[in-house]
Amino acid sequence: MRAPGRINLIGEHTDYNDGFCLPLAIDRECVVRWEPRTDGLVTASSEQLPGEVALAADGSTDPAGVDPPWGRFVAGALRVLAELRAARGVDLRVASTVPPGSGLSSSSALSVALTFALADAGGLAFPDRRDAARAALAAEVEATGVPGGLMDQLCALFGVAHHAILIDCRSLDVTPVPLPTTHAVVAVHSGVPRTLAGSAYAERRAACEQVAARLGVTSLRDTTPSQVADDPIARHVVAENARVLAFVEALHDGDANALGPLLLASHASLRDDYRVSIPELDLLVQLLVEHGAIGARLTGAGFGGCVVAMVQRNHADDCVAKATREYEARTGIVPSGFVVRAVAAAGPCS
Ligand code: GLA
Repeated sequence: MRAPGRINLIGEHTDYNDGFCLPLAIDRECVVRWEPRTDGLVTASSEQLPGEVALAADGSTDPAGVDPPWGRFVAGALRVLAELRAARGVDLRVASTVPPGSGLSSSSALSVALTFALADAGGLAFPDRRDAARAALAAEVEATGVPGGLMDQLCALFGVAHHAILIDCRSLDVTPVPLPTTHAVVAVHSGVPRTLAGSAYAERRAACEQVAARLGVTSLRDTTPSQVADDPIARHVVAENARVLAFVEALHDGDANALGPLLLASHASLRDDYRVSIPELDLLVQLLVEHGAIGARLTGAGFGGCVVAMVQRNHADDCVAKATREYEARTGIVPSGFVVRAVAAAGPCS
């Protein structure tokens, strides 16, 4: 079974507030192959990461105690599959081309591929892919303890080639939106690992829930800009939802000029109001724009990892080469940038 990573074009820290986001499934993926075994064990090894795990198939292993850490995802998925009465003994072989710790959802690609592989082995189908997304998220929360939203899993499960997908995180409706052929979507990894991402993520999420509770609404989706004008955290979420819808409208209208300013406004809001950026991400955004990107912003949870940029297609490689060279000269950190392609959702390996 294969599951793609994702890059989020716009709509950051909105998914767990019942808001909107616009990710695309990318041409970096995790593949999990399985072979049956009969002794009630699940073993797993990885082509990229060291170590092996051997766990009871009944989901009885606490993920927190599993070493190597990537094995916690196997334990998390087993817990969820055991609850769905679909766990059985298998040998799992994991291979991934999604760069880890980059904000491109290597974890969700792994948990979706594991969930599909274990379900396949256990004879369980997910007629509604939203249930597969929920199962993979539950597995990931078991593995990491980070209370993530559903964006990454839904993107892996509903991605469409050449399209971004608009997700309404309240209704879980997913609408494919064609990407322009004139512009490339670029990922540039800052080279800074996302060390604070887990703890700060949980804090931000709790802060959003507190504002919603104070205002007497279910989530920040139900608030207006004037209600949250004095609260930077909530202000980001409400403004970001509006930016996602404006971005989708600009894509539909073929109005590329409107896209860049929305990306930059999103980054500024994540930096100044939501406070999940770091100087390296700010510098990368600045350099990409100086070298010709129409816009750029941090993508994923923040505190390191990648920025996403849109660049005129014929200029994309040049822009990335110049921006990354200058970034390295100024910070001493080696970044890596590449053009991404929007691909289809998770499924059996071809
Ligand atoms: C992480 C989470 C997502 C989402 C983003 C921020 O990637 O896994 O659910 O909340 O951060 O937009």
